[in-house]
Amino acid sequence: MNILVTGGAGFIGSHTLIELYKAGHTAVVVDNLSNSNPESLRRVEEIIGAGETPAVHIPFYEVDIRDREGLEGVFAEHKMDACIHFAGLKAVGESVEKPWEYYENNIGGTLTLVDVMRKHGCKNIIFSSSATIYGDPAEIPITEQCPKGQCTNPYGWTKSMLEQVLMDIQKADPEWNVVLLRYFNPVGAHPSGRIGENPNGIPNNLMPYITQVAVGKRKELGVFGNDYPTPDGTGVRDYIHVVDLAGAHVCALQAIARRCGIGIYNIGTGHGYSVLDMVKAFVRVNGVDVPYSIKPRRAGDIATCYCNPAKAKAELGWEARYGIDEMVRDSWNWQRQNPEGYPDLNQN
Ligand code: NAD
Ligand code: UD1
Repeated sequence: MNILVTGGAGFIGSHTLIELYKAGHTAVVVDNLSNSNPESLRRVEEIIGAGETPAVHIPFYEVDIRDREGLEGVFAEHKMDACIHFAGLKAVGESVEKPWEYYENNIGGTLTLVDVMRKHGCKNIIFSSSATIYGDPAEIPITEQCPKGQCTNPYGWTKSMLEQVLMDIQKADPEWNVVLLRYFNPVGAHPSGRIGENPNGIPNNLMPYITQVAVGKRKELGVFGNDYPTPDGTGVRDYIHVVDLAGAHVCALQAIARRCGIGIYNIGTGHGYSVLDMVKAFVRVNGVDVPYSIKPRRAGDIATCYCNPAKAKAELGWEARYGIDEMVRDSWNWQRQNPEGYPDLNQN
């Protein structure tokens, strides 16, 4: 299939491009580069095209998904079979400061995208949702039957609302196939160390913070709370290797090919690891030190969040292959090789 990948220059999008090409698909990328660097796409082409002639070229458009004319232009040039929709703003704290910007970008952008897609007869979409839509989950491990909860921030609400928007659109027009993938906590990087997570400024998420401490960019990790009702008192999450997560999108395309209607899947490993489990695994596998100290709880955090991924296995034939050791190894491999992230192409 030929796939429109919105947000394809970003962390998860870039890894997904590799899995798409490995599975025999082709892609067209749309990204406004608001949180990414086109160097990621150059490196993706390098990985996909290793040893191949002619070199692989992935068409890339620096277009904002809110830009209807820009999107029309892309659809005029390429026939698209489906869209994998990653484009969106994702910083939880920033969304509290700038709710309008988050609703406008994520919801406004998706409404424009979906409208242009249907005008061009492309009614297949895979949407990046998040475990955050469960709020403080009513059950652990979380199944897809678990009721959606109260989100603690506008970012989370954009995911929750967009799930509803896409389901309503599919209900009204059954020609649509909508797959909602609820990601748990993506970490890791491509094993080559050529692409990975490249956060702007101080990382909000645990793994990039750990790698930046390990590489000497930050003094120590603050562990947010050690008085949660968990085995060691620190927060427990379902970390998933980004290469596994990328593979879930390829499996979701098969569901679309089977005309699934609406499909909703948790994408995690089903294992919960605490903050200190992650730190200890990182130190053990990589042989580097990660100084940390205990800090107060972070507002909005929950104690425990991990899923039951059985539905994705049963219906998509997908399950995670990588464990915690590969996650910490590949996160470090990327950070070690790219201590400053991607080079700033504008500086040369
Ligand atoms: P990312 O920021 O690395 O990638 C998102 C990409 O979208 C970026 O390249 C950015 O430039 C682009 N973008 C943003 N707004 C755009 C717009 N209006 N038009 C065009 N491009 C735009 O983030 P990621 O970690 O790769 O996440 C991808 C998706 O998965 C996001 O929707 C995110 O909310 C969702 N998600 C991420 C996580 C996570 O922990 N990384 C967890 C759950 C869900
Ligand atoms: C966060 C977001 C969630 C988003 C997800 C993936 C919040 C409240 N939730 O989830 O909406 O979908 O990222 O992008 O921000 N931790 C530390 N020190 C740190 C950073 C994190 O101890 O410097 C702890 C946290 O308290 C938590 C765990 O590490 O227990 C994971 O945190 P994080 O990586 O930010 O992910 P989530 O909070 O699960």
